[in-house]
Amino acid sequence: MTASQRRETANETVIWTEGLTKVYPRSSVPAVDGLDLAVGRGELFGLLGPNGAGKTTTVGMLTTRVVPTGGRALIGGIDIVARSTLVKQLIAVVTQQNTLDRSLTVRENLYFHGLLFGMTSRRARDAADELLARFRLSGHADDPVFVLSGGMAQRLMVARAILHRPAVLFLDEPTAGLDPQSRLALWEVLAELVAERQTILLTTHNMEEADRLCDRVAIIDHGRILALDTPAALKRGVEADAQVTVQLAGAGPEPAAGAGPGTASGPSAAADGPGDALAELLARTVPGVVRTRVADGRVELQVNGGDRLLPRVLEAAESGGFDVADLSVAETTLETVFIRLTGKELRD
Ligand SMILES: Nc1ncnc2c1ncn2[C@@H]1O[C@H](COP(=O)(O)OP(=O)(O)OP(=O)(O)O)[C@@H](O)[C@H]1O
Ligand SMILES: [Mg+2]
Repeated sequence: MTASQRRETANETVIWTEGLTKVYPRSSVPAVDGLDLAVGRGELFGLLGPNGAGKTTTVGMLTTRVVPTGGRALIGGIDIVARSTLVKQLIAVVTQQNTLDRSLTVRENLYFHGLLFGMTSRRARDAADELLARFRLSGHADDPVFVLSGGMAQRLMVARAILHRPAVLFLDEPTAGLDPQSRLALWEVLAELVAERQTILLTTHNMEEADRLCDRVAIIDHGRILALDTPAALKRGVEADAQVTVQLAGAGPEPAAGAGPGTASGPSAAADGPGDALAELLARTVPGVVRTRVADGRVELQVNGGDRLLPRVLEAAESGGFDVADLSVAETTLETVFIRLTGKELRD
């Protein structure tokens, strides 16, 4: 171990990677491409990126399931490749698949996991009951796991993962596919774990999840980190505090064929389409517009400061002869940050 690595681990760096890379066989492009990370004890760290960004591959390497083709990684100062068996004992992972044992009850899923990790029968039973209460699953303790909703099953998997008190908990898209209520319930549970200084690395393509839960977020795409900071600092970097979205009438993603009279006149005659013409007009006339983006018949304005924002935008658009169907304003989000970095949207 080098001096700098010793310093990192002394500062309670729990996850450390340097140039971590994975090129899958028969693939020419790396799935993960030179990842440098340092996650501290008690941190909830997020990897935020779209489908195929390399999130699962990163978790796979850090949990010893996927063998890196380049770089290094340490968990609790221990090399994930050279000492993978030891690393496995330090970590827990909840993957994108349901891995509960369907032949067992809810409580038994926890109890037998405890025995597997060397707990006495008494300890395993106590730990199981404590976690069931904590994860709001006590009412289903004796039910078979297949009666659980998706959200409950996910909570049970997290409960099972932390039963043996891992140094790091890895969660790969923990709330993907959950309804909003189950997602909130899981967020509450995760916030409690963080309050107890459980180190967590989670992946997500949900910007709200990253924003609300994570202490720091790495935005990744094509296996590379594009930005890494606290959610607040990432959003500050956009230099706009609000996003205004203007939807033009009759200018959706799939414009209706044979549009009625009137739509062919006026601004729609502009060379680049009405969206571009409106964006250009608003950038020129509305104070505080930092940048504009036109997508699917919408014009998005990133705006810094500025009072009476919506009336001003509406007045400017209408005075230019544009037919505004809808107008909304929202705070800058991590989605805005992602679009700024990649030019594309994070959503599927
Ligand atoms: N076993 C594999 N063999 C070959 N290529 C793979 C394998 N697993 C993943 N890939 C490729 O590696 C890249 C990263 O995939 P990965 O699953 O890590 O992304 P992800 O960010 O988890 O995406 P998702 O949001 O869809 O879960 C993708 O291009 C994917 O097609
Ligand atoms: Mg994945």
